Amino acid sequence: MAKLPTILVLCIILAMTNSTSAITNYNVLRFGAKPDGKTDSTKAFLEAWDAACATENLTMIYVPKGRYLVGSMAFKGGCKSPQILIRIDGTLVAPADYRVLGAFEDWLSFEGVSGVSIAGGSLDAKGPALWACKASDSNCPTGATTLRFTNSNNIRINGLLSLNSQMFHIVINGCQNVLVRGVRIIAAGNSPNTDGIHVQQSTDVQIISSSIKTGDDCISIGPGTKNLWIERVNCGPGHGISIGSLAKDLDEDGVQNVTVKSTTFIGTQNGLRIKSWARPSNGFVKGVRFSDCIMRNVQYPIVIDQNYCPHNLNCPGQVSGIKITDITYEGIRGTSSTPIAVKFDCSPKTPCTGIRLQNVNLTYLNEDAESFCTNVVGIALDLVRPNSCF
Ligand SMILES: *[C@@H]1O[C@H](CO)[C@@H](O)[C@H](O)[C@H]1NC(C)=O
Ligand SMILES: *[C@@H]1O[C@H](CO)[C@@H](O)[C@H](O)[C@H]1NC(C)=O
Ligand SMILES: *[C@@H]1O[C@H](CO)[C@@H](O)[C@H](O)[C@H]1NC(C)=O
Repeated sequence: MAKLPTILVLCIILAMTNSTSAITNYNVLRFGAKPDGKTDSTKAFLEAWDAACATENLTMIYVPKGRYLVGSMAFKGGCKSPQILIRIDGTLVAPADYRVLGAFEDWLSFEGVSGVSIAGGSLDAKGPALWACKASDSNCPTGATTLRFTNSNNIRINGLLSLNSQMFHIVINGCQNVLVRGVRIIAAGNSPNTDGIHVQQSTDVQIISSSIKTGDDCISIGPGTKNLWIERVNCGPGHGISIGSLAKDLDEDGVQNVTVKSTTFIGTQNGLRIKSWARPSNGFVKGVRFSDCIMRNVQYPIVIDQNYCPHNLNCPGQVSGIKITDITYEGIRGTSSTPIAVKFDCSPKTPCTGIRLQNVNLTYLNEDAESFCTNVVGIALDLVRPNSCF
């Protein structure tokens, strides 16, 4: 894992020093892209990708300053180039009519790629018109995810700004070895389903030094996530960091070895949440460490909810089959905006076990907050405020 960043840094240095390196440079302007914000540059971007992909050298696709109107684009793998650096100094802009992007699942999608890095750049998905459509309950499209990586490995996303996504901002699905660093995500606090970063079926993903302000989960973690490291993220507005919703399916891969560290939640709905449908499933959550996190005015700072059953549809009378074990909350402090700051609502069929609270200090209106427990076994160490209810 230590090798790749070194190579990336080398690429960037070589690219910047303009040395006669083996990096082959493709500027999107050469392929006919127009930085005027109104000429459709989709074809130019796809051609730049095809050219880079077919080159045996390390390659860079360069997007100079300016605004580029682009529609839905799928960048396919199977490339000859071992490393493709996409260096963006400009902004990619979605079509003004939300139905154009909304007809697709994704705006920018990378499928089966290896060694792709995105450095810098802004993505403006023009989501607000679609959010307004959804709010007025007419027949609106679901909307497109802004940036998706599927079945890919050795991916870097560095210093990107994603604005106003129609749906999820970034999705990492079926990937290995992904580093997201210094990313900023911005959407309105009431925008529907605009999750910041969604990870699932992926191994060795790091999300570091990033800021996420959005209308749904800042980071959502789906089945099959393993070795996920989240550190120094600022979250809020938004719904917090959530493992789940799990137990959507009977047959589901587990979530294991997740760390969330030095992260701040400001005015969010949840802080650190694990959530599963009240439905049978063979999935699990195992080995999660939440440490050194600050809550400012968070509705539900610590929550395990295994009774998720919105509108009582598809689950009445059922209980969750997800087994939750070995979850540590250490150094979690700050304020709750509701009286119950710590809530463990676990499954009667598969109680939560190995829950550990250590140095937790959460208050409500400068007073003691409360804890709530059902079907949970755990221990509390050192200062734990509110008192645990194990
Ligand atoms: C690959 O790099 C070599 C060495 O710098 C260069 O001579 C060659 O032209 C490059 N190939 C392409 C297709 O750009
Ligand atoms: C857990 O994941 C971290 C990276 O997030 C990794 O460094 C560590 O080795 C993993 N632990 C196990 C037991 O796989
Ligand atoms: C717990 O937090 C409250 C409110 O922020 C603070 O006044 C108190 O000193 C903290 N207690 C400890 C032991 O840190």
